[in-house]
Amino acid sequence: MRYSQLLIPTVKEVPAEAEVPSHRLMIRAGFIRKLASGTYTYLPLGWRSLQKIIAVVREEMNAAAAQEIVMPIVQPMELWRRTGRDEVFRDILGRFTDHHGRENVLAPTAEEVVTVLVAGEVSSYKQLPLNLYQIHTKFRDEFRPQYGVIRSREFLMKDAYSFDADPEGLNESYRRMYHAYRRIFDRCGLRYIVVEAESGGMGGTDTQEFMVPCAVGDVIVTTEDGSYAANIDKAAADPPPKAHADAEVGAMEEVHTPNVGSIEAVCNFLATQPQEMIKTLVYSAGGRPVVALVRGDHETNDAKLARAVGAEELALADAATIQAVTGAAVGFAGPMGLAGKVHKLAIDHAVAAMAVGVTGANKTDYHVRHVVPGRDFPLAGENVVIADIRTAVEGDTHQGKPLKFSCGVEVGHVFKLGTKYSQALGATFLDEDSAEKPFVMGCYGIGINRILAMAIELGHDDDGCILPVSIAPFEALVLPVNNDNPEVVAEAERIHDKLQQAGVDVLLDDRNARAGVKFKDADLIGIPLRIAVGDRSLKQGKVEVKRRTDKKPTPLPAHQAVAETLKILAEMKAKLGGPGRPL
Ligand SMILES: Nc1ncnc2c1ncn2[C@@H]1O[C@H](COP(=O)(O)OP(=O)(O)OP(=O)(O)O)[C@@H](O)[C@H]1O
Ligand SMILES: [Mg+2]
Repeated sequence: MRYSQLLIPTVKEVPAEAEVPSHRLMIRAGFIRKLASGTYTYLPLGWRSLQKIIAVVREEMNAAAAQEIVMPIVQPMELWRRTGRDEVFRDILGRFTDHHGRENVLAPTAEEVVTVLVAGEVSSYKQLPLNLYQIHTKFRDEFRPQYGVIRSREFLMKDAYSFDADPEGLNESYRRMYHAYRRIFDRCGLRYIVVEAESGGMGGTDTQEFMVPCAVGDVIVTTEDGSYAANIDKAAADPPPKAHADAEVGAMEEVHTPNVGSIEAVCNFLATQPQEMIKTLVYSAGGRPVVALVRGDHETNDAKLARAVGAEELALADAATIQAVTGAAVGFAGPMGLAGKVHKLAIDHAVAAMAVGVTGANKTDYHVRHVVPGRDFPLAGENVVIADIRTAVEGDTHQGKPLKFSCGVEVGHVFKLGTKYSQALGATFLDEDSAEKPFVMGCYGIGINRILAMAIELGHDDDGCILPVSIAPFEALVLPVNNDNPEVVAEAERIHDKLQQAGVDVLLDDRNARAGVKFKDADLIGIPLRIAVGDRSLKQGKVEVKRRTDKKPTPLPAHQAVAETLKILAEMKAKLGGPGRPL
């Protein structure tokens, strides 16, 4: 392929909004151009890389016995209502009403569509297991599209959906996908951490995320030895040991704290510490009040709290509800006497372990001290739950090992959905015992564009991209240094043609441009191997070979250039691993 015939608009300047290296470099290297907020065109180089990623994903999905299909991007809103996800996905759904007044959704994912498809086509256990996948456009009206194609509104997702007769079948389908994912990310040259995640709006039980370490992104919580990794909504901190007061604690004592509502203000006012305080927060879960207690130096984690009280969704209650439940204005709630009034009283382990604390008095402008958990409010009872309902913080441990906090971007996600969607949509099959049962499902997503962006996040330097051979737009670049020298041009063409015949995806920089420009562009677009043909070295029968990662080129007899290139490329590919064997 000839450089002069391709649209490769490399540029020096990048828009100020490009905050991360991959965004800047994808623009500078002429991989992408922005159309509007969160939507990008892929130019020839960017699209070549995406196609290579797609090929890897497809090979591994097929090897794991998943079957490729394509589903529509336009989905009826009615399906989303049936599963209740019109509400869960509310703000990110792209919607339009068609000529006939029917409401439609631009696919952000496809659980509903694939479930009704399988419900119509599969009726017997004999047709299971089944795993269907597609590699297709998704639309999410992200509130804040960010970091170029890492968080865009329109993107390519590989989404797979497994259907099994029972949970054991699902475990096996999930295991296959998990291992296929590992091979996909290995072959794309990504470093990644697999973290336990919270299933959130998707429903279901087990779920893991494949996270690529990065300066930006979501918080990843790990132990030093890597034996435990979870996202921040899931990361479980060890409960502290039960504290005991030095001396007998006197009765609760009310203190007048006019206009002192925040933790900080109360601490100053009462000369106490946040960890001595019990924060009492009123939530509304499906219209029912739930009270959560966390220590003053901790934050409630909504996902954990929702799980602990068995709510699908919850939100902080409004001022009127707080007043109705506690009898006080916001900022003066306390747990005393609330257990009987609320749907659930959820107490974090760290609060249950306190010997004594300070909290709101359920009376505007008053707090109480000498509050003893178990004495002044219950630690057990029908609607009392003691659980991990807070976000883990620096200093916490998991099974005795200190927790470390870092950041990463999710490139893939595997989910055990169970029967949430099959039940909601009436998708059933006849089992061996002639009983009608809902399919047991899993779903598995990969962000194709994110793989490319994250490969650049991990692989770049000041000069440009450093892409793994498996997903670089070309494997090798032949660069004639002096375009005005016919011998140089002829030798460069010979090497290019021979490599092409040998099956190498090779680019010839045939532009009539200064050598400096060509070398700069070669580094910028990140082709893993460069063969430079210059008049001075060619006079001695030599060319120069350089890996993108080498500091200096290596001179080599010109007649060995092709064989050496093939050898280096083979080594690079071997390091990344090849297609997986069918499982
Ligand atoms: N806005 C987006 N832009 C690019 N890729 C995305 C976007 N949203 C999701 N993806 C990719 O699709 C995969 C599967 O989608 P999933 O629904 O699990 O995403 P998600 O958990 O909502 O992602 P995130 O937490 O980053 O918003 C993700 O692992 C990610 O790689
Ligand atoms: Mg996800």
